[in-house]
Amino acid sequence: MTNYQVPRGTRDIFGAGIEQQRYIENKARTLFKNWGYDEISTPLFENKDLFIRSVGETTDIVEKEMYTFQDKKGRLLALRPEGTAPVVRAIIEHNLIQQGKSTKLFYVGPMYRYERPQSGRYREFYQIGIELFGISSEYADWEVMILGYDFLQQILKDKDFSLEINSLGCDLCRAKYRDKLINVLQNYSSQVCSDCKKRLTRNPLRVLDCKVDNAKFVDLPKTVDFLCPDCKQHFENLQMLLKNSNIEFKLNSNLVRGLDYYTKNVFEIKCPGLGAQDTICAGGRYDNLVKELGGNNTPAVGLAFGIDRLLELLKSDTGHTKSVCSKIYFAVASTELLQYASFLSRKLRLDGFNIITDFYDSKSLKSQLRQANDLGIRYVLILGDEEYKNSVIQLKDMLEKNHTFIKLDSINNELKNVINQQKI
Ligand code: HAM
Repeated sequence: MTNYQVPRGTRDIFGAGIEQQRYIENKARTLFKNWGYDEISTPLFENKDLFIRSVGETTDIVEKEMYTFQDKKGRLLALRPEGTAPVVRAIIEHNLIQQGKSTKLFYVGPMYRYERPQSGRYREFYQIGIELFGISSEYADWEVMILGYDFLQQILKDKDFSLEINSLGCDLCRAKYRDKLINVLQNYSSQVCSDCKKRLTRNPLRVLDCKVDNAKFVDLPKTVDFLCPDCKQHFENLQMLLKNSNIEFKLNSNLVRGLDYYTKNVFEIKCPGLGAQDTICAGGRYDNLVKELGGNNTPAVGLAFGIDRLLELLKSDTGHTKSVCSKIYFAVASTELLQYASFLSRKLRLDGFNIITDFYDSKSLKSQLRQANDLGIRYVLILGDEEYKNSVIQLKDMLEKNHTFIKLDSINNELKNVINQQKI
């Protein structure tokens, strides 16, 4: 037993867990590329200021949850708590936005927030995010939401999830809303926590998002009642597009999001069965952020999925690993065949198959099959003297508990069929 344990709120991911995580990531990569999104990878840490400026000084993320440190030259850095600000920094730095054209990017990777760990909430967690720059039309919001929706349907199949939307409006609408909110929140000033006392005047919208206080508020004004004609039309057009695509959604006037950069439409996708941490995807429009961070005026909209929460949902799916796993276990029943089997497994691997073996030390067939079972591998190739003599190999389906014999000279095609059948 080691004296060391994984830091609180972080996890080692291995075995079926890492298989499922990569499966989700690869599904996302394929779908997003089909929609014209290119992958981008940014550093795990950035200048702390980037997040203060973008996520917002008075947000929980910046006030309480950032992992910050000084490097040897005294630079103030932070492990990234989210992916949008780094992507915006990168597109400005590398001039990735061409006027009059849209830029579409996605990213996959770990994020860091010093939150109180609980099921579905970690200090190191993984996100897949997409960001669409350069389009102010509601079609861009629709595309991002539809992508979120289609991806979740591919991953979660028949599981229920629900989309909630709201509009926070532009600076104009927000200023009016802010005044009204400050007015109403004065009634609560003696009841709120010390953080909210500061927020009441500095950034009152954040009060709505406070985990300590938000249950206390009733009859607060709604952002949608303060929208200017442009923002109102934009929000209504988006709703119409969603309706026409047969996407069900709910208006949620309490949805303000925990990050300051949002403008106009925001949304969250929730899935029952996850307890308190049931938001699996969230995002919205952020038309001011590129300019705020030093770029040209560029409208933008995006979202991020919480991979850890998606994995939690898939964990309850017994047999899921078996069905997504493309591994094939190759067992040998006779010591005489070790060399032939070693060479054949090498050839199959070179041909692109994922072949698991553990027979070099002449393990019994029984213990090889037990291992295949423990690894959750559905298909097992078994080579014994009889099969070898007849130029065939046994293909055993551990799930259906049946087997067939396939000819050694057509093994590639047979295995390809098996793997294709497993793919969902
Ligand atoms: P966010 O709502 O802070 O938005 O995070 C997005 C998703 O990441 C959440 O809905 C949740 O599934 C997951 N998540 C957040 N914190 C944790 C945690 N501590 N443990 C596990 N999962 C977590 C953003 O980060 C924005 N950058 C999204 C965005 C992209 N908006 C526009 N573009």
